[in-house]
Amino acid sequence: LKIAVFASGSGSNFQALADAIQAGGIPASIELLVCDKPSARVVERAASLGIDTYLFQPKQYPNREAYEQEILSELRARGIELIVLAGYMRLITRVLVEPYYGRMINIHPALLPAFPGVNSVKQALDYGVRVTGVTVHFVDGGTDTGPIIAQQAVEVLPGDTEETLSARVHQAEHRLLPQTVRWIAEGRVRLEDRLVTVDRE
Ligand code: GRF
Repeated sequence: LKIAVFASGSGSNFQALADAIQAGGIPASIELLVCDKPSARVVERAASLGIDTYLFQPKQYPNREAYEQEILSELRARGIELIVLAGYMRLITRVLVEPYYGRMINIHPALLPAFPGVNSVKQALDYGVRVTGVTVHFVDGGTDTGPIIAQQAVEVLPGDTEETLSARVHQAEHRLLPQTVRWIAEGRVRLEDRLVTVDRE
């Protein structure tokens, strides 16, 4: 399974996925990093892993559709079969959603449909929930609204700060994302209407 990861920041999830694939057992390869921030740490990670990076500057385009058109050509030229959004901080338009619906996933640091959008860990802390977690879902036209594939709960502990809770949420992400990609690569994930079934053998 040929994968492109889209990321804008640190890229710890990109790294976790690359490490899991390298360790073996996932029939997939990361062919490309797509990044909108030249100074992002994820760009260095890709370089050390020997993974090609497609960098673009959104400001140089009239609108989102314009740069997504170029990204789409790049993905097609490389035969990309799965897009993984891992901390990609931009909205996706129909230019990418339509051709890749059911083949584009996102990792979100909360138990959707709770706390969509940005700052989800802080939102969860401020709300006072006792359990939060992480979600991997297919991407549709909305913000964090697509069909859910996998979730993992993370307990909120007394005295948690955004930092301590974030760290545990990240640990959960680093397990759940590679596991979900493995399920998809093994052909065990089916999307019917807007519900997902996972064949767990
Ligand atoms: C993760 O928490 C992911 O769920 C969110 O952005 C964060 C990216 O972290 N969408 P990293 O860049 O993978 O370290």
